[in-house]
Amino acid sequence: MARFVITGTGTDIGKTVFAAGLCGLTGSDYWKPVQSGLAGNVPNRAIHSAGPDAAQAGSDRAEVERLSGAATHPEAVLLREPLSPHRAAELDGVAIDPVALTPPPAARLVIEGAGGVMVPLTRQVLFADLFARWQIPVVLVCATGLGTISHSLTAIESLRARGVPLHGLAFVGDANDDNIATIAQIGQVRVLGRLPRLDRLDRPLLVAAMAAAFRPEDFT
Ligand SMILES: Nc1ncnc2c1ncn2[C@@H]1O[C@H](COP(=O)(O)OP(=O)(O)OP(=O)(O)O)[C@@H](O)[C@H]1O
Ligand SMILES: [Mg+2]
Repeated sequence: MARFVITGTGTDIGKTVFAAGLCGLTGSDYWKPVQSGLAGNVPNRAIHSAGPDAAQAGSDRAEVERLSGAATHPEAVLLREPLSPHRAAELDGVAIDPVALTPPPAARLVIEGAGGVMVPLTRQVLFADLFARWQIPVVLVCATGLGTISHSLTAIESLRARGVPLHGLAFVGDANDDNIATIAQIGQVRVLGRLPRLDRLDRPLLVAAMAAAFRPEDFT
């Protein structure tokens, strides 16, 4: 099974866009276990309850469908507030059970976390802990500009400290060769590629940009 977890050095770093591109590049399905911030769009939905199968407006799943046409799997947990899942779940009265968050059995699957690696799922369990339990290779999405060296190295250490298998780094943003090389050298980690900022985010442009920047054989 070729499965990858897409996490990032923080929120809004480009995980969803990269995940959509990777689904297109590798013919993978997509799954986001926990989606928060769907304010008012969704009813509360407990873990693994049979919810609506279609992607909800404003969800990362809907954006991946738009940008890739990939098959997507329903989230395990949908939350209203645009907050860390542990808090959004508390406010929605939903108990997240990390043990129940098991990836769907797709042969090729791209899984997107929420926010960065140390985001709490509950007050006891972080996303990095979940990734350690799964032992699915992680791709860390990093920015390229000022600040990224410390953010990226911090995330790399946090993953390694928990025994998470780190597959490599995917950068999103403008070229910055020294930042990228410095992170790779100090972090002792492979760079898979860099997706530039695109003027327009649509499927053909993303397909072309991913094909130019990443190699499908690095994701087998
Ligand atoms: N390569 C890119 N070119 C142009 N815009 C991009 C690119 N990557 C991301 N963006 C834009 O930046 C914003 C954040 O990207 P994205 O939603 O992928 O981040 P994220 O890490 O998935 O965030 P979250 O933590 O909320 O899931 C979005 O508005 C997205 O359209
Ligand atoms: Mg996202």
